[in-house]
Amino acid sequence: MRSHPSTARGRPPAFSYRSSLAPRSSSIGEQPSGGEELFCDDIPVRRLAARFGTPLYLYSASAIEARLVAFERAFLRVPHTICYSVKANSNLSILRLLRTFGCGFDVVSAGELKRVLQIDRRANRRIVFSGVGKSLMEIDLALKSGIFLFNVESESELSRLARRAGELKRKASIAFRVNPDVPAETHPYISTGRDQHKFGIPLEQASELYRRAARHRFLNVVGVSVHIGSQITSPEPFRRAVDRIAQLVRRLRQDGHSIQYVDAGGGLGVCYRGGDQDFVEYAARYAAALIGPLNGLNLHLLLEPGRAIVAPAGALITSVEYVKANKGKRFLVVDAAMNDLLRPSLYGAFHEIVPVRNDRKLGRAKFDVVGPVCETSDFLARDRPLPETVEGDLLAVLDTGAYGMALASNYNTRRRAAEILVKRKTAKLIRRRESFADLIKAELVETSIGRRQAGKKRVEKSKTGGN
Ligand code: LLP
Repeated sequence: MRSHPSTARGRPPAFSYRSSLAPRSSSIGEQPSGGEELFCDDIPVRRLAARFGTPLYLYSASAIEARLVAFERAFLRVPHTICYSVKANSNLSILRLLRTFGCGFDVVSAGELKRVLQIDRRANRRIVFSGVGKSLMEIDLALKSGIFLFNVESESELSRLARRAGELKRKASIAFRVNPDVPAETHPYISTGRDQHKFGIPLEQASELYRRAARHRFLNVVGVSVHIGSQITSPEPFRRAVDRIAQLVRRLRQDGHSIQYVDAGGGLGVCYRGGDQDFVEYAARYAAALIGPLNGLNLHLLLEPGRAIVAPAGALITSVEYVKANKGKRFLVVDAAMNDLLRPSLYGAFHEIVPVRNDRKLGRAKFDVVGPVCETSDFLARDRPLPETVEGDLLAVLDTGAYGMALASNYNTRRRAAEILVKRKTAKLIRRRESFADLIKAELVETSIGRRQAGKKRVEKSKTGGN
């Protein structure tokens, strides 16, 4: 078994085992000495599950802070702003926590923008707005809110933004999101920087579009933006992309544009399969890949990390409802499902799963860990070696702080999980479990249509003599 990086070098011990006898933590995956149980910071996960029920998302505030600090340190030698990518985990308390550390935000919808303004009205000057499909309503809201930067993704969006900025008499600072045509070495669904992807403008069109943008009185052309994808674990694709952006910045400056910002997007991956990742060193290599090509350009760097900050700080806690076997295949049917954590079903993503009570004397076997949803794609893990488990046992699905709850749905009319933020010995509910009433509150039971149709059928029946 591997040594879990969350307790090894660099990554904070958000989730670690402690023996009930000696409160000393040991790495998840290290052979524990007898019966041990999983803690989130200083609280036994078992206790949180009993108090708040399962499925349950737990986040460690200390882990988020430690990741953010390490990330920030990596960029200390250049002027920069971290604009946390709200889509990764948009819980208001998480956003507030990040705001207290001075973060700005990357948003992609009016909803995300409103979330940020909800936690701090004055965060507007630190918001960058990305996305290929900004609606008129979203553009208006962003203009009126006085956000810091629009990342414009097409010529049509430029026209729309210029028109609305003029009509509302609000000046908008813009960057074009440029598609550098660089492969990202990640899952095809989250790779965004190739010619065939919908994102950004082609490099070749950049000069012309910047020229057009500069003509608009209410547009202030200040930067260039790029985002090549997510869950990228090698610095090389970042370096290649930023290298192209640096060349573009030089050309644009020669053309007379005052480019002060490069928004390098997000995308730094995490180590879902464990190993010995040292986040401080890893973040430093990433930073070097971005900073190197921009050397001498005297730019302010904007960064939009999401996953790298929050993924390892979260775990999804679930109870085993049933243990079953179909011929040779063994299943743990748990109370969390694809509606709670979509990543395994959608991308075939791997998340480490560990028992909350870890008894090393138990034998191990291979299980599919599946949820109650009526789809074969409803699995959290397949053929996963786990200790012998019985009904009622708790499992923790690790590294689910990013794109876990954010992608959760109500499929099968399942209530979304509660979320808890833990800081050392304190646990706070930051989102209550949904109720059935929450689920149906936007729905209307329309009765007249059904009745009219039923009536019509009756009439038709009588006309045809009831056959
Ligand atoms: N900036 C932009 C413009 C983005 O599109 C994204 C992510 C980010 C920043 C943040 O990327 P990060 O640092 O988190 O990699 N649902 C997928 C991930 C989709 C990412 C979409 N864009 C998953 O669960 O893996």
